[in-house]
Amino acid sequence: MNTRSFPHRHLLGIQGLTAPDILSLLDLADGYVEQNRSVDKRKNLLRGRTVINLFFENSTRTRTSFELAGKRLGADVINMQASASSVQKGETLIDTAMTLNAMHLDVLTVRHPDSGAVKLLSEKVNCAVINAGDGAHEHPTQALLDALTIRRRKGRLSGLCVAICGDVLHSRVARSNIHLLNTLGAHVRLVGPRTLLPSKIAALGVEVFHDMRAGLKDVDVVMMLRIQNERMRGNFIPSVREYFHFFGLDAEKLALAKPDAVIMHPGPMNRGVEIDSDVADDVERSLIREQVEMGVAVRMACLDQLTCGLPETAGGV
Ligand code: NCD
Repeated sequence: MNTRSFPHRHLLGIQGLTAPDILSLLDLADGYVEQNRSVDKRKNLLRGRTVINLFFENSTRTRTSFELAGKRLGADVINMQASASSVQKGETLIDTAMTLNAMHLDVLTVRHPDSGAVKLLSEKVNCAVINAGDGAHEHPTQALLDALTIRRRKGRLSGLCVAICGDVLHSRVARSNIHLLNTLGAHVRLVGPRTLLPSKIAALGVEVFHDMRAGLKDVDVVMMLRIQNERMRGNFIPSVREYFHFFGLDAEKLALAKPDAVIMHPGPMNRGVEIDSDVADDVERSLIREQVEMGVAVRMACLDQLTCGLPETAGGV
């Protein structure tokens, strides 16, 4: 039996969670990291439970880690790619949700290109819903895995200075991280060109920099973001070359951060666009691979906690 310390039915975003909510998931995930490093990675906590991963957008890390997380906890896991489903035949989001709901599932993980779509869906089903990324809104499990990665390396989050750099405008990862880092007492800086930083973003309690060298000065963590071309309508950067020159992370700009500053990126990376290969592959300072490892553990913690709150008989029609 898992014990419940996360008092929410769904995980739709970091906004609205308290520090104890977040810390309880991180503490639980720490235990799952150890389990994942052992030979016997399986637990039967979710035996009999059904998890469906419904993805309306492409994904490598998030989808695979949700699948692994469910399987390592003993659940039956089904992956649905919208491009291969009846969505292509014109079925609405709500009809798709109602169809899945009728199959008595326990957890529905959803990625969707529209902000708010996952919340809407959560209002129509009886199971627990996890937001695996909705438009440019939130990506809560990414922020949790980032926090776990930082905490394991630095020993804390509170008091750290974290620079989130690049295409903040289109980034759900940035939004979830801002909420989480603020809640846990870290100091957040946003660094990027004016075209890629929302004009009122400082209201979220962050410091804004348009000069990368100034923004990286003495930070503990440098979190790079991908240029999200697929969400852009129009030209946001003059050219890739110019963008890399001013906002790409290379050894020279990194030298302005603290000597023990770490490098992060949620992936997928565009090498030579927002990050130079030399820093991305720096074995001492780059935590990009650890982030992927932590992703599985964090998603196990989320599945563990959200199924605790479910009745013994699964919902349905
Ligand atoms: C991110 C996403 O999909 O929001 N990727 C991820 O989940 N690891 C970031 C991105 O696509 O750039």
